[in-house]
Amino acid sequence: MLWFRKKTEQKIDMTKLPKHIAFIADGNGRWANKRGLARTLGHKAGKDAIKRVLDRCNELGIEVVTMFCFSTENFGRPKEEVDYIFNLFREVKVDLLKSLLKRNIKFRHMGDKSLLPEDMATDLKEMEDKTIACTGSIFNLALAYGARHEILQAVNKIISSGEQDITEQTFKNYLYTGDLPDPDLIVRASGEKRLSNFMLYQAAYAEFYFPDMYWPDFDEKTVDRCILEFQKRKRRYGKI
Ligand code: IPE
Ligand code: MG
Repeated sequence: MLWFRKKTEQKIDMTKLPKHIAFIADGNGRWANKRGLARTLGHKAGKDAIKRVLDRCNELGIEVVTMFCFSTENFGRPKEEVDYIFNLFREVKVDLLKSLLKRNIKFRHMGDKSLLPEDMATDLKEMEDKTIACTGSIFNLALAYGARHEILQAVNKIISSGEQDITEQTFKNYLYTGDLPDPDLIVRASGEKRLSNFMLYQAAYAEFYFPDMYWPDFDEKTVDRCILEFQKRKRRYGKI
């Protein structure tokens, strides 16, 4: 009978979805260490989490899904680890493109392509070009990304363009995310509570959520939990 039924699970309010969710994928190494595995295997497991999270966001109709997977600072890691991560990308790129096209997901790279190996820069550009007509979620993958680097690049581009009287709107256009809405929700995996040079300009009014779990454990349910948490927040944008 109805009144004996257990309290039903909370439901996502489909009319109040965040337009843009940005995930900081963190804790791959610790996930692996905890299991007595090499850090690289944590990155491998993290790659599968990317797919689960992206698919769930696309299924729910989230407009933009950003994932921070390799920062400008990550180039300072041992060469073998950096190479392993880049090789993971090379391994999955063909299937990734197929799966994006099949799911109607538009791909965007956020970061400095000139810092990446040439073949990766070419592949990222190709993925952007081939998915340009897709109308589902936008998958904005941050590789070789750093927010200070992005902001300084914007400043230098403005100087060379000679443009004056820069407004918030015109400045935004010089960032990688010029045409994308700011993130409504930034989720960092691994329990660390910091931004680590991620979307410093765009994060002005983002909500933050720090689930206490490593990135490779993220799945469809985690996405739902992030959105339910977002829907509890009251955003006032400095008003009352
Ligand atoms: C995130 O996991 C993936 C990358 C930054 C490439 P980490 O590699 O930072 O894992 P931890 O934080 O050392 O556990
Ligand atoms: Mg880390």
